Amino acid sequence: MQADVKKIGVLFVCLGNICRSPSAHGVFRHLVSARGLDGQVHCDSAGTGDWHVGNSPDARATAEALKRGYDISDLRARRVCEEDFSRFDYLLAMDSSNLNNLRALCPDDASPHIELFLRYATHIDANHTLEVPDPYYRGDEGFSAVLSLVEDASAGLLDALIERHPQLMTP
Ligand code: 4NP
Repeated sequence: MQADVKKIGVLFVCLGNICRSPSAHGVFRHLVSARGLDGQVHCDSAGTGDWHVGNSPDARATAEALKRGYDISDLRARRVCEEDFSRFDYLLAMDSSNLNNLRALCPDDASPHIELFLRYATHIDANHTLEVPDPYYRGDEGFSAVLSLVEDASAGLLDALIERHPQLMTP
């Protein structure tokens, strides 16, 4: 790959950046790597709130991810910043509140795709909400449900990017 080819950037966004978006970050980077696209797609995650900045993912999210083969223990929470709207091509929100916040924060001169992440899910039925439910105040089953939605949408997202961006070359 030529050094001057711009990577496609994907930022996963939730409220605290300790449960849903780091889970999506961990699953998606695993899929990107498995498809040999590390040099062509980069991803990160961030929160619209700042309460957990610098913290590791919630222990329940880390445990559920590890159970399914994803190590997210290296991730640290950060808040969405203005540069994110130019550094990333896709800002994918976990719920409508995150989506509305991102739209409000987006500078006038930036035009990334700002969407709900679950619009890329392919295994949820038509009347399923497109929101990843916030598991923070729920039990372990909430984290398992998050991971299932995140795995579905991550796979759909990567397929969609490969279809939409012909410059992405899988080995
Ligand atoms: P997340 O979950 O947005 O998926 O990271 C939450 C984490 C923390 C809080 C809310 C949601 N909180 O209120 O501290």
